[in-house]
Amino acid sequence: MSEPETARKVFIHTFGCQMNVYDSAKIRAQLARDGWVATDCADDADLVLLNTCSIRDKAEQKMHSALGEYRRRKRRGAPLTLGIAGCVAQQEGVALLDRYPEVDLVFGPDGVPGVQKLVDAARSGQRVLDTTFLDLENYPFVEAVDPDAAGRVGAFVTIQKGCDNKCTFCIVPTTRGVEVSRPSGQILDEVRTLVACGIQEITLIGQNVNSYGLKVPGERTFAELLRAVAEIPGVARIRYTTSHPRDMGPDVVAAYRDLPNLTSHLHLPVQSGSDRVLKRMKRFYTRDHYLRLVDDLRAARPDLALTTDFIVGFPGEEDEDFEQTLSLLSEAGIVGSFSFKYSPRPGTPALKLVDRDPVPDDVASARLSALQARQRALQLAWNRTHEGRVVDVLVEGPSAHDEGVVCGRTSSNLMVNFVGDEALVGQTLPIRVTRSFTHSVRGEQV
Ligand code: SAH
Ligand code: SF4
Ligand code: F3S
Repeated sequence: MSEPETARKVFIHTFGCQMNVYDSAKIRAQLARDGWVATDCADDADLVLLNTCSIRDKAEQKMHSALGEYRRRKRRGAPLTLGIAGCVAQQEGVALLDRYPEVDLVFGPDGVPGVQKLVDAARSGQRVLDTTFLDLENYPFVEAVDPDAAGRVGAFVTIQKGCDNKCTFCIVPTTRGVEVSRPSGQILDEVRTLVACGIQEITLIGQNVNSYGLKVPGERTFAELLRAVAEIPGVARIRYTTSHPRDMGPDVVAAYRDLPNLTSHLHLPVQSGSDRVLKRMKRFYTRDHYLRLVDDLRAARPDLALTTDFIVGFPGEEDEDFEQTLSLLSEAGIVGSFSFKYSPRPGTPALKLVDRDPVPDDVASARLSALQARQRALQLAWNRTHEGRVVDVLVEGPSAHDEGVVCGRTSSNLMVNFVGDEALVGQTLPIRVTRSFTHSVRGEQV
């Protein structure tokens, strides 16, 4: 450890998905070993790291605009080390150092295990770049646990890094590299440590969790991993993300029948309801496969709440294709979705299709609005089905909007707000639903 006596402060600005949230916690955990203290206020930080996302152009642009403020502070003479981490760092590499003289450090997701050394080098006055992918054999998944886990209700646990799929729109294989499954013994140890800190809800994360373990002789499959996590005393709820519809097998479906602590919510990104578009995206499943899978899941878990992701305006998407996406919403009984306009990403295979078959931006925007309007109506209708019913809510914390109100979720991921004290956090309580809104419901203690 170097200089543990000085309380050097690190501020991490996190963009993007759960992987980045998790990586930021791992960065804090590792820097804490060197005496760094995390701060919520960038203004008094000695080190500012932007953990960036590149999934769509907008995400990338957010990083550039956030960086402006930190660069200005540095130009005004603040003794600040400034770093860019994550997916944009991996994608852009040295170009970021060239473009921004105030930036001291650039490293991709595979730099996280060695972050202490990288920060030390940057603090000694070097400009540091690390975008090499680590050796896949014995990939050094970080074991240090988030120092802030205590007092929380839920935590993420990574089960794999990277992705071996090549969905034609997607930058993730470029930014996160090939898929590596984390040894299940290590995953289970991390879950036990988190449970000992009071965590009750574990969310297993990976880009394609269903392929977990398949390439490692003797390793558990994803379904076996779910069972092993479910058996750990104190794990009240298990969630996971993200599943790929092609790879979800009958063993995972059966887990919904057998494991009561596996939650009644599944996020299963479909991207499009049209086979023609799915083919161009190289998703390797059909609409029919998706619908049959959903039927099997509902047979195993009748109250399963299904959410998904959609991309609209993918090159070559015609009105008929989009109609198929709209009709899938109700046919599959999807209660919530994230939907995005297709955004061309550097080096991805779909760029060839954009040149040939672009969808005009106004058409894509109109489709996005129509899809989101339909989704909001379906979500509200689903939320309304809860009115008058009593649901079990795991209380997560104070409401962000209302004083004296706490919020929590049901197993099916319904967000419930009710009048209550913060002392209820961590308890699972029966709540009667009284009113519903699009994104949440209101209730009262029974
Ligand atoms: N591994 C997950 C997805 C991770 S990215 C899976 O396979 O489902 C999260 C979501 O971002 C995707 O589901 C997709 O809907 C969206 N997305 C990814 N690349 C995109 C792009 N180039 N343009 C628009 N949306 C994109
Ligand atoms: Fe991207 Fe496809 Fe991998 Fe998901 S499965 S991360 S969409 S390449
Ligand atoms: Fe974004 Fe990288 Fe996640 S591109 S969505 S932060 S894997």
